[in-house]
Amino acid sequence: MNKLIVSLLLTLGVTGGANAAGTIVGDAAAGQAKAAVCGACHSPDGNSVAPNFPKLAGQGERYLTKQLHDIKDGKRTVLEMTGLLTNLGDQDLADIAAYFASQKGSVGSADPALVERGRALFNGGDLSKGLPACTGCHSPNGAGIATAGFPHLGGQHAQYVTKQLTDFREGERTNDGDATTMRTIASKLSNKDIQALASYIQGLH
Ligand code: HEC
Ligand code: HEC
Repeated sequence: MNKLIVSLLLTLGVTGGANAAGTIVGDAAAGQAKAAVCGACHSPDGNSVAPNFPKLAGQGERYLTKQLHDIKDGKRTVLEMTGLLTNLGDQDLADIAAYFASQKGSVGSADPALVERGRALFNGGDLSKGLPACTGCHSPNGAGIATAGFPHLGGQHAQYVTKQLTDFREGERTNDGDATTMRTIASKLSNKDIQALASYIQGLH
């Protein structure tokens, strides 16, 4: 959210609840308490240590809110989170998203043997396969475009990224919308491409 809007909301005392447009506004401080149960896997500050549990720290608020709704509604299957979101309402999910978005994300390192191929694909795509560069939506430093809901990727665990790209390719993850953007992109990636991209992303910042 833009700083001007945040300071306006703070002045008005509206941090949580709905804004004038009827959109639910997340309250990071309230979200911290509500996210206590998530820390077991994602770590209390969202910088998970296990490579199969995604880092949530510094992830865009809009993207996080969408994923939480998708997981709760069964549009994205996360077996480990079964039942965890059932009793959380829209305001709770918005607060939790605001909390993790406000945390600083940590960065890992890339495998030197894979980094060149990963960098080339991430920044340039592959014209011969009709693969677009990832940078257009996820930006050159992997920060994503928070306001558009394009996720932050930089520093994410390679193992988690590999699973997501493979799941998109195999049709196991289908919550990228009617445009099927990520499913289409992943269908053009070989296992080696995915491995190189995931390693590059892990060290990207
Ligand atoms: C038992 C472990 C576990 C717990 C507890 C847990 N999660 Fe997760 N979560 C996962 C796993 C595993 C995934 C990734 C699944 C996959 O590979 O697609 C995930 C994915 C997510 C994602 C998607 C991240 C992304 O980058 O797309 C969000 C958001 C999330 N969890 C939020 C939460 C919140 C909020 C809570 C607490 C209410 C929570 N999780 C509790 C294991 C857990
Ligand atoms: C046209 C825009 C666009 C381009 C280009 C694009 N992506 Fe994405 N990507 C998205 C969107 C939007 C999502 C979120 C889908 C959703 O809401 O679940 C996403 C999700 C992802 C995710 C899952 C993130 C997570 O935390 O679970 C990964 C990994 C990813 N993209 C990697 C890539 C890679 C690698 C490339 C380049 C080969 C790429 N993307 C190109 C738009 C794009």
